[in-house]
Order: sequence, then C-alpha cells, then structure tokens
Amino acid sequence: MSQEFLTERPAFARLQALAGQQKTLVNLFSADPYRAQKMQIAAGPLMLDFSKQRVDARVLSELEKLAVEANLPGRIEQLFTGEEVNTSEKRAALHTALRAPAYKRLPGLEAVDTQLDRMEKLVNQVQTGCWRGFSGKKITDVVNLGVGGSDLGPLMVTQALREYTLPIAKHLRVHFASTIDGSQLFDLLDYLDPETTLFVISSKSFTTIDTLSNADTVRSWLSSYCQDRKLLHRCHFIGVSASKDKMTAWGLPEANQLYFWDWVGGRFSLWSTIGLPIALSLGMPVFRELLAGAHALDEHFRTAAPLENLPMMLALLGVWNVNCLNIKAHAILPYDGRLKAFPSYLEQLEMESNGKSVTASGKPLDYSTCPVLWGEIGANAQHAFYQLLHQGTQPVASDFIVAARRYDNACDYAHYEELVAQHELNLANCLAQSRVLALGNAAVEPTDNPYRQYPGNQPSSTLLLDRLDPTSLGALIATYEHKVFAQACLWGINPFDQWGVELGKQVAKELQPYLNLESSLDSSDLDSSTRELLQRVECLRSASQLVRQLDAPDAVSQEVKR
Ligand code: F6P
Repeated sequence: MSQEFLTERPAFARLQALAGQQKTLVNLFSADPYRAQKMQIAAGPLMLDFSKQRVDARVLSELEKLAVEANLPGRIEQLFTGEEVNTSEKRAALHTALRAPAYKRLPGLEAVDTQLDRMEKLVNQVQTGCWRGFSGKKITDVVNLGVGGSDLGPLMVTQALREYTLPIAKHLRVHFASTIDGSQLFDLLDYLDPETTLFVISSKSFTTIDTLSNADTVRSWLSSYCQDRKLLHRCHFIGVSASKDKMTAWGLPEANQLYFWDWVGGRFSLWSTIGLPIALSLGMPVFRELLAGAHALDEHFRTAAPLENLPMMLALLGVWNVNCLNIKAHAILPYDGRLKAFPSYLEQLEMESNGKSVTASGKPLDYSTCPVLWGEIGANAQHAFYQLLHQGTQPVASDFIVAARRYDNACDYAHYEELVAQHELNLANCLAQSRVLALGNAAVEPTDNPYRQYPGNQPSSTLLLDRLDPTSLGALIATYEHKVFAQACLWGINPFDQWGVELGKQVAKELQPYLNLESSLDSSDLDSSTRELLQRVECLRSASQLVRQLDAPDAVSQEVKR
C-alpha cells in the first residue's frame, strides 16, 4: 500500500483511536510524578519540555512508529544530501549546506564559501569606512529593501542579537523597508542622508514588485542629489539575488552583486548572502556564530532517534494536536522582548511552507495541514489575546520560548539588579501561564464564581534556552525549520514551494491599470465588489486631486474655465 497520505499509515489510525481515550493534563500529571523528567529533550543550548502536551507513553510510542512509517530518517538524509526534495520545482533545498563549516562543504558547493568571503569583504569595506557614498563620505546607514524571506529573517535576527553588536559595527544603523505602499521608505527618506546611505536590494528572484518598486523610488530619490547613475549604482546599492542577469539589467555592477542559488528557499535564506544586513549590523563573526549554532542543531536532527530528536518531536506533537486532537490554532509566545519579530518570521516559515492542500505529487488531501499560527511577546500578549487562550472556546496549542539567563553581559550596568529582577518577573509569568493553561482551576484554590473558571487542558511546549545569543538563536531557528520539514513529510506535502501566493500577484498586475486616474478601462468584467471598490477609490482620489488643483492659484482659473 502506498503511504503518501498521513491517513494511510497504520500508526495514524491507532493514534486516532488513542485520541478518544486521552486523559486531561491534570490527570496525566497526577498519574505520574516523574512525568516532566521523562518528557524533555536537550539539544545543545535548547531544552524542550513537552510534558504539558496531551500525550502519554502509548501516544509517544505510536508517534515514534509514525515517524518510521513516514521514513523520516530517510527523508532527512535526502534533505541533507541535496536530493530533489522540492518536487514541484524540481530542485534540492540545501539551506543546511549553507551553515556547514567549510571543511564539510558538499562537493560542488564551493561557491558557498566564495560568496561568504565576498560578503565578508563588502561588510568590512562598509564597516571600516572604506566604502564611500557619491560625495566621498563614509556610510552611516544601510537600508535593506526586501520582503518575505528577504526581509523577515534578517530583521528578526538583527533585532534579537543587537546586544552582541561588535565594536566595528556599532556606528552603522541598519534599517528595513519591505512594504509595497512605500510607507516605511517615506519615513526613512525623511531623515536619511543620501550621501551616506547604502541600500541593499535583497530579492531571490529580483522580480518581486514590492522590493523593486521600493528600489526604484530610492534610486529616484538619490538621483535628485546626484545625476550620475553609474556612480549611484556603484556607491549606494548592493544587490543580493539568485539572478545575476536581473541585477545586471537593473544597473548593478558585478562588484556590487552577491549571489545565492535557486536551491535556497526564500524563507530558508537568512543563512545565505541574504544575511548581509545581519553581518553589517552585528559583525561578520556574529553571523558566523549564528551559522555554527544552526549547524550543531542540524547534526542533532540528522542523528538523534525520533523520540530524542527535538525538531522531530515538535513536528510529531504538532500532527497529534492538529490531526488527532483537532487543535487548529498555534500560538508562538517568546518571553523575550528581543524576539518581537520571531512570531512573524515563523508565520512565514510555517504557513508558507505547510499551508498546503495537495500532496507533494499533487493529489488532494482530506485532512488538515498547517494550523493557523500567530504570536507576540508572551508577557505583552497576556494583556491582549491570552483571555481567549484561558477562557475562549478555541483549543490552542502554544510554544513558550524563554532564556534562563539574561543581562549577564551587563553586570557593570548601574541598574543591573533592577533588570535582573525584571527578568525574574518575566520568567515567573512564563511559567505561570503554561501552568494555568495546562491545569486551569486545579492550579489554584477552587471557587464557585462562574467568571473565574479556567478549564485548562490547553497543551503547550516550553523551549528553554540557557541564554539568547548567536549560537542559541541559530539553533532555535534551525529547530523550527526542521520541524516544518518533518511535519511536511508526515503530512505528505512539499514545504518548499508556494504556488498559493502566485495568483494574487498576477491579479494585482491585472488590476493595476484600473487604478490609473487617466485610465478609461471598462470594469464591467470584474466582480461587483471589486468594481464598486475601484469606483469609490477613484471618486475619493479625483475629489482630492480637485481640491489640490483648487488650492493652486493658476489651477483655480483653469477649473473656472472648465
Ligand atoms: O510572495 C512570496 C515570496 O515569493 C516568498 O516566498 C519570498 O520570500 C518573498 O516572496 C520574496 O521573494 P524574493 O526574495 O524573490 O523577492
């Protein structure tokens, strides 16, 4: 029997049967005082406590069999050795090869080191002040223009590791602009100095209109200060892409181009030259430590047995929650202000990868895949959406992420003790929330007040880091990448394509001409909602254009003449 579908695997049928017999978390904890000791996995700087998941020994044993039936160990080898795991696009997904040390480089991938070295050279030139703007001044600001995988990863890492910025990078300010409406640029261009700002155009395809429209706006902004286009391209732009030709066609000289390859998925690309803003912002050695942390986790994923394998366990628990317990929402709750962008990063990583409804070979699925995933800094979310987690009607699985140690680099800081006390408060909140979500009323004195009832039984995992640093962050990101891959194998889907986002891009292209005020296109073929909205937009825009014209004195006379 083919086992392309999750539902065809014998262990899955047994897991479904077990789901009907599951005890509550309160009962599971009282039945076994050693539960937590048995349900944890350590991998380098990370420790996973999954004792607050609704699983017992029988479920774990079936999950282990499911991993074997889905051939997870074999699929992992295919991933690492560069087989064509991205079947719809007929290519490998070799992000793991980008972070392996040079002596372990896969044959034929020596270009990875060449590009890393070129990136390091560029970073040094900018950080040491050798790279100059068109008027000969040193660079003070860098703006990354990119979106999706060409923005979220570098942005998240740069924010998370700011404290580790090396002295050589401290004077450089790194900004990110992704939005197609130009809002972020509008703010930035208001105060940036054209003579000292460098723009990185990050786009794997170099066709993404969001990024290219931002790049064109920037080029026109710079052109009003310097008319020599060649000079502008040479002094104010670096391109990072898998398409050399498109970068060249845009006008970038070869020396200003960094490359990566089509076998690096956009949302898996922060380890490639797409990581340039990370290296510029924090220093190249910090970027290399990030790579090393991810590589150590790769080795763990490749070699640990299923029930001792941290990413695999996260994947198996996710499938158990979604497909057996019917829990279709997943909250990401980092208790660390530095990980503010981590939930958005994971939203792309997980939902763009595994939000699929056909198998890798294109057959429709009749079971759920990726849950809806969202999140926020945990302690802030306590004052926002936790009400729903505690007393709403939706079952939600959560990941708590927290570092045991914080501020140990800042012992000399005058307010060190106050900050350490704040971190203790933060830890107490993190532990309290997962405890109350799991146990509900049983965590406190019982009361009859109907508004103070807490059903509990909401499953969660806690990922405990010793401290958040380049190595542990690299390991944390790699953990989730591998969870996504393992889950895709269990569901029988391809996590490395994203056909679902293509149609929207195509339709936007078709609609754009209707928004040109001069256009007299007939919109009768469009659906009535789109047509009405277009007409309303046109009315509002022409009214404001009229007001502007009336405000201009010579326009008034023209209007009167009309
Ligand atoms: O539209 C989705 C997407 O293709 C993502 O997969 C990707 O990370 C993002 O757009 C940006 O693409 P690019 O790096 O090619 O500009």
